[in-house]
Amino acid sequence: MPDISHQKRILIIHGPNLNMLGKREPDIYGHQSLAEIDARLKKKGERLEIDVETFQSNHEGALVDKIQQAAGTVHGVVINPAAYTHTSVAIRDALAMLDIPIVEIHLSNIYRREPFRHTSMIADIVTARIAGFGSYGYTLALEGLAGML
Ligand code: DQA
Repeated sequence: MPDISHQKRILIIHGPNLNMLGKREPDIYGHQSLAEIDARLKKKGERLEIDVETFQSNHEGALVDKIQQAAGTVHGVVINPAAYTHTSVAIRDALAMLDIPIVEIHLSNIYRREPFRHTSMIADIVTARIAGFGSYGYTLALEGLAGML
């Protein structure tokens, strides 16, 4: 458990191309922008009395840096590594160092899609996984984590 105040903190990490939500393949990923999703999550956090921080990057190293900074500063992580889900040993290794609950989330049901999306490099090291609920999956992840903390 991190050595931080009693106020619970959750970090939500969005991987590459998720900054394009709303414009990007809306039939698969929905019409909501990332800013709208993040604003909804912050409001939800207020209701749950949890401090919610959101972060998006298109760069693997920046995502690794952010995950490393989570150690000792937040109580839980929600992560959609996007395309890096399927490829990144670096993100897996960074997450594996954390001693806090981690929820893997995908907007789409990756198992209904192309075979290369069926592999997740982090599936076996995360606490819980959510896929296929669209942006509502983030709300579910936040509620689930809040219940655990
Ligand atoms: C995704 C699924 C990934 O396969 C894809 O590369 C993404 C988004 C999802 O949220 O459904 O960028 O993680």
